[in-house]
Parts: sequence; structure tokens; C-alpha cells
Amino acid sequence: MRFWFLRCLNTPCFTALPCKLGEAAARAARSFTSTQTANRRGIAVSGAEIREDFISEEEERALLEELEPVLKRKRYEYDHWDDVSLRISVFSNVSHMMAIHGYRETERSQWNEKNSRVLQRVRDVAFPPGVKQLHLVHVLDLHRKGYIKAHVDSVKFCGSTIAGICLLSSSVMRLISKKIPTDVVDLLLPRRCLYILRDEARYSYTHEILKDEESYFNGVKINRDRRISVICRNLSEDNAE
Ligand code: OGA
Ligand code: MN
Repeated sequence: MRFWFLRCLNTPCFTALPCKLGEAAARAARSFTSTQTANRRGIAVSGAEIREDFISEEEERALLEELEPVLKRKRYEYDHWDDVSLRISVFSNVSHMMAIHGYRETERSQWNEKNSRVLQRVRDVAFPPGVKQLHLVHVLDLHRKGYIKAHVDSVKFCGSTIAGICLLSSSVMRLISKKIPTDVVDLLLPRRCLYILRDEARYSYTHEILKDEESYFNGVKINRDRRISVICRNLSEDNAE
């Protein structure tokens, strides 16, 4: 029998209280930790990692200061709210099919010095030395009512690792096994965390960001506000030359 639990792996994230999420969410995260510990042998997905408080409030502010003027010039885009249309996200010649609602996005290769240091920290943690990375960083701004439906990032263009930092709002990322759709793993992504999807989590599961109405973690509501993710990826073998 295959086990599945609300959990994530290798996470220093839940050892400390997930501050700023509120008492109820903090309690849920604590109970989550014991489930994870008790059932360590049942771990079904490898390669999902969350580092809580990866960036400080000041670093979050600095990233927003650089991004906001660019994002503000764009409008949030809404596909069909009742969802049938798939959109192709195109950035850095990387495209994958995903349905996404209430978003605007940009990509950026030049960052100010302070933000470059933060992004270098992401890269150092997420990618082994020598791995060919996309130098354009993908920035996805989700409206508070926006959400991302289940998808797998383009296997053709993106490599084995997706690493994102989360600004402005906590959220719930859901992973669903492509082979066994009842194998569902929810990850709590606290504001200012870094999440990394590698290997199995990246290839064998779809990922999605839940809409506010569905945004619960261990039965606790995780309010979804406007959320910006800043995502680094590596190149697939095909594209690494
Ligand atoms: C994507 C994606 C997740 C996020 O752009 O492919 O899954 O954290 N983004 O915004
Ligand atoms: Mn994705």
C-alpha cells in the first residue's frame, strides 16, 4: 500500500513555528510535523523541499521595490474563470501548458546588487555546481483571487529543478501523482519561503497553487493574498548544449 500524507521533505521549515501564519496555522504545522516524523517510512514523494524564512522581511521589500514598477505596468490576465482553456506560458523560450488565472508575469536577468545576492543564494542552495541554469528569472504575480491549475513544467525546456521564493502571501501548493491521482501531497508555502521541486516531485507529480477558497492546510485556512513567486530553473539536458 502506498502512503500519502500532508508533508514535505528535508524541511527545516516546520521545526520553528511558522510565525505570521496565525495560531491556528501554527498548530496545524506542528501536528503536521508529528505526522511526518511518525510516518517517515511512508514518505512517497522525494524531491520537495521547503525552507521557511529563506529571505528576510527586508529582502522581500527590496525584491518588491525592484519588481513592482515593472509589474504595475501590466494588467492581470484572466483566462476563462470556469477553466477550460490552457495557456502556454512563454518565458525564456521555455513554454509549458498551464491554466492560470489572474496573473501577470515578467522575466529578468539583471537585478540590483542586493537582489542578485539573494538570487545567488537561491541558486547555490537549489543547483549543484556546474549545472546549466536559465539566467532569466521568472516572476509570476498572482492576484489574490488568482490561482495556478495542475501542470508539469515543460520537460523539453526545463531541467530537473524548480526553485521559487514566495513573496507577499503564504499559499498551499498541491502535488498530485500522475500515476495515482489519489496520491496527493499538500505543501504549505509560507510567505518568504524558498521551495524546491526536484526529481520525483518535479516529474512524477503535477503541481498547482490553490485558490483562496480552497487554500487549507491540515484543515486550517491559509488566506491567499496577492502572491509573487520568483522562480529559478535549470536547463533540460536537451537545451544545455
Ligand atoms: C509555474 C509555476 C509556481 C509558483 O510558473 O510553472 O508552477 O510558485 N509557478 O508560482
Ligand atoms: Mn510550474
